[in-house]
Amino acid sequence: MNTMIKTAAATIITASAFLSMNVSAGIEAKCKACHDFGTANKVGPGLKNLMGNKAGSTSFSKYSKSLKNADWVWDDANMRLWLGDGKKAIKELTGDPKAKTTMPSMKLKGEKLDEMMDFMNGLQ
Ligand code: HEC
Repeated sequence: MNTMIKTAAATIITASAFLSMNVSAGIEAKCKACHDFGTANKVGPGLKNLMGNKAGSTSFSKYSKSLKNADWVWDDANMRLWLGDGKKAIKELTGDPKAKTTMPSMKLKGEKLDEMMDFMNGLQ
């Protein structure tokens, strides 16, 4: 009997650990291979404090020419564009049909895009 209770308790603990792990692995999991959520540079620049600041203006040294020369401030509309399709967004935002970014297009839309925007807005 005692063993049964212990086994059941262990199962519950394992299951809840698994659940909380899944809850914390949100949409940002798509970015963390390349981005730090603080200000450290990895494959791409740190994502903290980007919202409300000029694009391409962190200490990251490997910006594409297009992002380095960017003249827009990240807001809800242009960040949604960027996270929907960065390759298309860079052309629209620079006004240069030949502009390119080294970040792959994330193709976020609908609820996933909303979730990602909440996350970005929270990184202040
Ligand atoms: C495969 C690597 C990779 C992944 C995955 C990735 N990025 Fe990027 N990201 C980059 C690189 C590289 C740059 C710099 C692009 C350039 O200079 O053209 C960048 C640039 C950015 C910028 C512009 C930064 C600035 O300083 O203006 C934002 C915003 C951004 N990424 C957000 C995200 C988000 C959010 C995700 C996840 C949904 C993500 N990225 C996923 C590599 C990645």
